[in-house]
Amino acid sequence: MNSDLRLIDTFGRLHTDLRISVTDRCNIRCFYCMPNENVVFKAREELLTFEEIERFVRVVARLGVSKLRLTGGEPLVRRELDQLVARLVQVPGIDDIALTTNGILLAEQAAALRTAGLKRLNISLDALDPEMFRRIARRDGLEQVLAGIAEAQRVGFDKIKLNAVAIRGLTESQILPLGRFARERGLELRFIEFMPLDAEQHWTDEQVLSGSDILNRLAEAFGPLEPITPGHPGQPASDYRFIDGGGLVGFINPVSQPFCESCNRLRLTAEGQVRNCLFSQEEWDARTLLRNGGSDDELEQLVRSSVSAKRAGHGINTAEFYRPERAMFQIGG
Ligand code: 5AD
Ligand code: SF4
Repeated sequence: MNSDLRLIDTFGRLHTDLRISVTDRCNIRCFYCMPNENVVFKAREELLTFEEIERFVRVVARLGVSKLRLTGGEPLVRRELDQLVARLVQVPGIDDIALTTNGILLAEQAAALRTAGLKRLNISLDALDPEMFRRIARRDGLEQVLAGIAEAQRVGFDKIKLNAVAIRGLTESQILPLGRFARERGLELRFIEFMPLDAEQHWTDEQVLSGSDILNRLAEAFGPLEPITPGHPGQPASDYRFIDGGGLVGFINPVSQPFCESCNRLRLTAEGQVRNCLFSQEEWDARTLLRNGGSDDELEQLVRSSVSAKRAGHGINTAEFYRPERAMFQIGG
């Protein structure tokens, strides 16, 4: 691509990753994300169609975006998601498509997603104990998730990552079982610090179980871990490997060790709003352009405006921090 077109913000950060939310709906209700009851979802016609998403991706791919991640809500509740994957793999410049899913519908869809060209999967799994799963997700589903993981491995997905949100005072008991499970099955386990994006706004910093705490617990149980140098810049996880060859563990520590300075991401919400940060207060309305005859040039300018307005960081630990109006399920993880 022409390097003059690249999306570089005022802090010199190059934007190559786009996270696309395909729905705000979900089949469970994790407390760190959604309200438990009476969730108000966007009407179907507010969501971008697959054609509209593809057009947006074609525009940003010319600006140097090469990696996509599909998110939600829960992306697999959007019907025929494999067809979106099949469209997006054909876009020139896109060389990697990943999906973040809660895994509940994965057993049914893994094969079709794989055939469509999906390369990588992140599956959320915070607990292996059914009671704890229920306390977090406020719905049942552990068995389906485990079946989804097994099926994804069976149809040939490798390098599957398990994402666990760790909550102090709640999920400590799950750390070692998750570690054992991941080691036995060759899955990469990633712990994510709880961020203030829960719809019910109960987050407090005391509930953040830090990555370094978890690392110590894992090392005590399974032996030492050594850090791996990051594969590419902008990777938010600090990765470690068990010295005994038991696999990889990653830590995403947005609260205790913000990685904003190497952020390379943009976000597109399910209803077509561009966000330059999980925590941004502002959005850029791509949907109106997509629906009202906007040109590719206008879309490009909209994306550039969003990139230029990107702030240095989220500032969670500062007095000026204030929460975005949207909760996680309305942004896309
Ligand atoms: N803090 C940290 N991670 C979160 N996720 C959702 N809400 C939060 C939050 N408040 C993660 C889920 C899932 C992905 C979609 O985002 O674990 O892996
Ligand atoms: Fe659903 Fe994912 Fe939010 Fe949990 S974190 S409620 S699985 S969208």
